[in-house]
Amino acid sequence: MDYKKYIAEKINVDGVTKEELYELIALPPNTEMGDYALPCFKFAKLLRKSPVMIAEALKNDFQTDDVVSEVSAVNGYLNFKIDKNGFVRGALDKIFAEGDAYGASDEGKGKTVCIDYSSINIAKPFHIGHLSTTVLGGALYRIYNFLGYKAVGINHLGDYGTQFGKLISAYKRWGDKETIEKGGIRALNELYVKFHREAEEHPEYDDEARAYFKKIEQGDPECYELFTWFKELTLKDVNKIYELLDIHFDSYAGESFYSDKMQPVVEELREKGLLVESRGAQVVDLEEYGMSPCIILKSDGSSLYATRDMAAATYRKKEYDFYKCLYVVAYQQNLHFKQFFKVLELMGKDWAKDLVHVAYGMVSLEEGTMSTRKGNVVFLEDVINKCIEKAYAVIDGKNPDLEDKEEVAKKVGVGAVISGALYNNKIKDIVFSYDKVLNFDGETSVYVQYTCARANSVLKKGLAPESFEIPELSTVEIDLVKAIAEFPETVRAAAEKYEPSYIARFAVDVAQRFNKFYFDCKILSAEDDRTKNFRLALTAATAQVLKNAFALLGIGIPEKM
Ligand code: ARG
Repeated sequence: MDYKKYIAEKINVDGVTKEELYELIALPPNTEMGDYALPCFKFAKLLRKSPVMIAEALKNDFQTDDVVSEVSAVNGYLNFKIDKNGFVRGALDKIFAEGDAYGASDEGKGKTVCIDYSSINIAKPFHIGHLSTTVLGGALYRIYNFLGYKAVGINHLGDYGTQFGKLISAYKRWGDKETIEKGGIRALNELYVKFHREAEEHPEYDDEARAYFKKIEQGDPECYELFTWFKELTLKDVNKIYELLDIHFDSYAGESFYSDKMQPVVEELREKGLLVESRGAQVVDLEEYGMSPCIILKSDGSSLYATRDMAAATYRKKEYDFYKCLYVVAYQQNLHFKQFFKVLELMGKDWAKDLVHVAYGMVSLEEGTMSTRKGNVVFLEDVINKCIEKAYAVIDGKNPDLEDKEEVAKKVGVGAVISGALYNNKIKDIVFSYDKVLNFDGETSVYVQYTCARANSVLKKGLAPESFEIPELSTVEIDLVKAIAEFPETVRAAAEKYEPSYIARFAVDVAQRFNKFYFDCKILSAEDDRTKNFRLALTAATAQVLKNAFALLGIGIPEKM
């Protein structure tokens, strides 16, 4: 807690801002006088009164509470005493009273936030590059719900384009039902890669593929059925991963859903005089805004990614009346989002300002960057499984008798993958390293999980007391309480800045402080019952806050480790 800020908020001096007050509040030379002091000399000229009188008047106006317990005016200084006990009491009582809802609020009541995330491409590998959008989006989804908003999770499927014609062509030529059924995305991707290889020598395959795509669009029963089947197979595969990562969607309306919703958008653009022809294509000129033109229709009349996104945004506004619509998509697509946001603005959509591109950096594997081209990709499923296996090995080494080792390894492994992607500021590129994310002593989820298990084991032996009193407090204890009391503010800031990393870092910071407390202060063998009870309560409060924080990130906490 920032006491200076707290005090500044409680004081009013005409003509002086809170920031100026904040700057003036300082630690007094003699702590006998108080924990903080405000010199009133600077206000004398402004208020045409002596500093002594000003300090006296401010003192009379000041309402003490369970944070600032005493205020005194001495020689033109206003001195404050902080009631650490009151603060600690207030913080812990709040945590126990609110439990799993500690940190939640209803500030978003009545507001809907659409979150477009994960947004996979049908029949394409779900690879490590999709990790960030999936876990960032999933965390934002939970965070917004926690703050009382209605979050709508949208998987804007990439299910539109000639690649589906290619897939049908390849399937008809080389595929068989059983292999594909068994192999799922991997088998589909192999077909796709094979098509590209073969089409180099047989350009006529490409024409065939285009024809098949047209047939899908026209609803030809056979082609449409195959396309639907590819979609189902893909979703069946990725759902396994979504389940592991605790990811949910309210809508899977993908690009093809907008096939029949683009025409009105194009019409409106034309009516508003925004469309111009450029080399046969229909585009919106954005030169004035320092961007290349946004292409709306190709010369053959077919639509583009941006056209479908404009139809999607329009549809979402109508369907959900969103307060904000977030797109959790890699920064490589910065221009795309800037362009179509701008075009919607030029169309006079006042809600275009509520569209937000939540951009994030690249993830690569330590053992070598991936290349999508030649079918040589790192499947996310493999990364997760490898993390679980490695976690199992470490746990088995540390605690071979642990029950439910598999379950624990799953929570630890999955947690490591999630926090590996969430720990840093989202715009940073990440090099994913198994050793780093599974380091028990690092700034990692497993460190936090291990700390929670430690707290739980203390609580098992000591049982958290129903009621407790506040003993003489050490700095280590006060620091821990200060840290856990920051949780509600941390959640709010994470939502405001679209930065779940704030919560991940918060959890590591709390765990570090807890461990300092654990090693510095005896809990179960404390000097007296009062102290022991308080320390148990502090342990229970810490465990609760860490649980709440990790729940928002989608990371489970094993009871024992
Ligand atoms: N499927 C796209 C891709 O993999 C991401 C879609 C993001 N969402 C959107 N509305 N454009 O690149």
